[in-house]
Amino acid sequence: MPTPVILDVDTGVDDALALLFAVAHPEIEVLGVTCVAGNAGLDDVVANTLRILDLAGAADVPVAAGAARPLIAPARAAAHVHGEDGLGGIALPPATRGAADESAVAMMRRLIMQHPEPVTLVALAPQTNLALLLRTHPEVAARIERIVFMGGSASVGNATAVAEFNVWHDPEAAAIVLDAGVPTTMYGLDVFERVSVPLERAKALTAGAHRAGRAVGELLGNRVAMSEDESLQYTGLIGDAGAVCAIVAPELVSFESLPVRVELSGYSRGQTVVDRRAYTGEDSLHGLDEVWSRSEVALGIDADAVADLFLKTVLTLPE
Ligand code: RIB
Ligand code: CA
Repeated sequence: MPTPVILDVDTGVDDALALLFAVAHPEIEVLGVTCVAGNAGLDDVVANTLRILDLAGAADVPVAAGAARPLIAPARAAAHVHGEDGLGGIALPPATRGAADESAVAMMRRLIMQHPEPVTLVALAPQTNLALLLRTHPEVAARIERIVFMGGSASVGNATAVAEFNVWHDPEAAAIVLDAGVPTTMYGLDVFERVSVPLERAKALTAGAHRAGRAVGELLGNRVAMSEDESLQYTGLIGDAGAVCAIVAPELVSFESLPVRVELSGYSRGQTVVDRRAYTGEDSLHGLDEVWSRSEVALGIDADAVADLFLKTVLTLPE
């Protein structure tokens, strides 16, 4: 039986790759897609999501707009990574439809409560929509199988020295989600930054005859203006798509159930602190261990196998 999922996205170059993979893979049933500000402003995220679903032949999948900014902090788009339009300037036709006339929270609640089986939420963006859902409709928690989120890091950050962009963008939301009593899987930078496609394979896709394959090649070829060094600008990362790959091929990822907490203040705001100690420390002995949530944290990955799974799957999309 395919896994029923709702994807929450800030499309986004790599969210686009994740959407294409999720629609293409036979073990995933995309019930709906909800949008949130993150990589780009909400309107661009919605437009990009609709265009990518059109490309995937999935214009029947409902799309709903959600939060236009985080719970507390202002929105901070990442044009230096995803371009001004959020899709790296890729040439795609305008969307053939608009977003649903219900909010992201309303659509998530409806799809979760209507589905006969528990639904998996796949959070590939700042978790503002999920936090609002869980706070507004706590009854949905019992109907959520798992929240798989691309976010956080047990090591270094990207948005800051210690914080990953999605959690950094809305730390309060991430803390609410982790503490909601729903099983979570953390697909963080520890694995996110290891799954990439060599430039030559991306170029071959871009030059190929497969329409979705050409778009994938262009998206993989997106240059990130994080460095003056041209050689560092091509990443080939499948990014968010890896979190969806982990759902259908968990054997390719090694997880550990570990205590996790989100820092909410100071320079480390947005850091996911992952406690990998095998012993009790002074924090517990002196009552300083505060609030921790346990999550299945991805720490290892068969990067080449996941990249191959991704490429093989997206090329099954209609020509
Ligand atoms: O840190 C990477 C995450 O931030 C990805 O989800 C990317 O799309 C951006 O949202
Ligand atoms: Ca994203």
